[in-house]
Amino acid sequence: MAGKRKGIFITFEGIEGCGKTTQVKLLSGRLRNHGIPVLATREPGGTLIGKTIRRILLDSRNTAIAPKTEWLLYAADRAQHVQEIILPALREGKWVLCDRFMDATEAYQGRARGQDTQLIRVINDLVVQGVKPDLTILLDLPVEIGLGRALRRNSVSNAGTQDRFEREHLSFHRKVRKAYLDLAQREKDRFVVVNADTSEQEVEEAIFHYVEPLVQKCSGVQRSGFRKEKQ
Ligand code: TMP
Repeated sequence: MAGKRKGIFITFEGIEGCGKTTQVKLLSGRLRNHGIPVLATREPGGTLIGKTIRRILLDSRNTAIAPKTEWLLYAADRAQHVQEIILPALREGKWVLCDRFMDATEAYQGRARGQDTQLIRVINDLVVQGVKPDLTILLDLPVEIGLGRALRRNSVSNAGTQDRFEREHLSFHRKVRKAYLDLAQREKDRFVVVNADTSEQEVEEAIFHYVEPLVQKCSGVQRSGFRKEKQ
């Protein structure tokens, strides 16, 4: 299935307040300036069905949610997202930039919530249909700084309310951060770790440093494809 994809798939990961959403927007704009068709999306909530799932998952009143329910709702959101949005876009040759993907489930539900990580990988493999990221950008920063940023963002745009995950203890967020760093260490070919404890512009430049080779590779492919067509 995934063999037919032509586009590039980049995922963004990190703890709360690491700046993923801003950086997805900045990279989207930069790639579009290079003439690249981009689809920016996110998990959970990248589809209509996913938006309903997102509301359930983040609602701070849902304290009774069982760990397995939480995990399987993320898996359901991803199954719909891959099928409806990500796979078709990659097949059309678009670059898909996704704010969180399969690694988030391993970090949050697996390592921080203590769910079976082997089983999480099996379910992830099932729902992604072979669609693995070409590049995963991990925006790393200390949890105190990330949560402080998330708190300030909420006081401006969310009437000060925190979602179910932002309400978790510092120890939970430390486990998530450590899990992401371990994943990055384990899959060095796919992950890059970018220091997010700096200005938006510096983070943007650091990210583009890793993305630029892909842009050049793709424009080279497009040019040689064009030459072939002309022959
Ligand atoms: P966001 O705030 O980055 O949009 O993500 C929503 C929350 O969902 C965030 O606290 C991380 C959490 N999450 C998981 O716990 N597991 C997952 O698989 C994903 C995609 C997100």
